[in-house]
Amino acid sequence: MSALHTRLCDLLGVRYPIIQTGMGWVSGARLTAATSAAGGFGILGAVTMTIPELEIAIASVKAKTDQPFGVNLRPDQADLDGRVAILVREKVKLASFAGPPSKDVVAKLRAAGILTMPTVGARRHAEKMAAIGVDAIIAQGGEGGGHTGEVPTSLLLPEVCDAVTIPVIGAGGFHDGRGLIAALAYGASGIAMGTRFLLTQESTVPGTVKDLYVQTSVTGTVVTRHIDGAPQRVIRTDLIDGLERAGRLRRLWRALGNAFRFRRATGGTRLGLLREALAMQKHQQLPLSQLLMAANAPMMTRATMIEGRPEVGILPTGQVVGVIDELPTVAALIDRIIADAEATLARLHPSSTVAPTASLRSV
Ligand SMILES: Cc1cc2nc3c(=O)[nH]c(=O)nc-3n(C[C@H](O)[C@H](O)[C@H](O)COP(=O)(O)O)c2cc1C
Repeated sequence: MSALHTRLCDLLGVRYPIIQTGMGWVSGARLTAATSAAGGFGILGAVTMTIPELEIAIASVKAKTDQPFGVNLRPDQADLDGRVAILVREKVKLASFAGPPSKDVVAKLRAAGILTMPTVGARRHAEKMAAIGVDAIIAQGGEGGGHTGEVPTSLLLPEVCDAVTIPVIGAGGFHDGRGLIAALAYGASGIAMGTRFLLTQESTVPGTVKDLYVQTSVTGTVVTRHIDGAPQRVIRTDLIDGLERAGRLRRLWRALGNAFRFRRATGGTRLGLLREALAMQKHQQLPLSQLLMAANAPMMTRATMIEGRPEVGILPTGQVVGVIDELPTVAALIDRIIADAEATLARLHPSSTVAPTASLRSV
């Protein structure tokens, strides 16, 4: 058995302890299927899909690979029950969550044999999630892309690993085999990566937008609350600087304009937007103006990831973007990470061949 075969591999039924995370507008069927086919675990970024789109995406992944994959859910989405029903019907391996799921949702999925895996940014959240019975946890450090916390991976990951007994997956800043070994050394059972998978051949993000990412340095990102109220790491652009400077009214005006355009483009209604914002209000103590912005935030990612228009959209990213300068295929990326991890182990433990990891076997 490979030295890198952790208990996460057994839990998910995959060759390598490498997860491609759910990314709205980015991890569609093509990227997810490529990851799972290459021995990692792909997750559909489904929170920005309608239910019919989700059904098509699941069918498309299944047509491309017979390997297991997951679906990303947002616990406060108005049609969550419908989405859960599809995961159950389609026997999807795992549900990941952009936010803390309720005990009921976790119980329902588990009863149907579906694994649950939320992302957390703080130890106490990991403890809460473990207590409601999730199967694994992604611990994302502050350097990670999209919504993110304050604690860096180097501090969060060991803290979470010490706090819970279920498998922990490190996220935020990972891109190579050395990082994988570092995560295992902290006690994690694998790594999860967003930005690194966004910058691959199979990612459908427009080439001009990928170029912008590749040109960004480690200091070229910023964490802002001005997109949807929660701290989100994005590439620093003129639009973000403008949002940071704008007053509340101006931001709301801009958000409403975008929101109505988005509803038109996706065949939705203004009433639907309001309903979405009100459903979110049940879970988050934010003013309605902020909730409207939050309900609209996917529109701003769509503008870049689908339309290729960074001047009107946002570019969620991890700081790791600053050390990425090429666009490999997913298979080449995963093979390279594994080869690099094995070489790192051999370097750390030169007297043995590439199976020196008795101490890592328990992770
Ligand atoms: C473009 C982009 C979109 C994202 N969208 C989502 C999402 O829809 N749901 C979610 O749970 N996390 C989302 N994230 C966070 C990632 O799933 C992942 O946790 C994060 O990128 C890990 O940090 P890294 O970028 O340093 O690898 C997104 C991240 C990026 C870069």
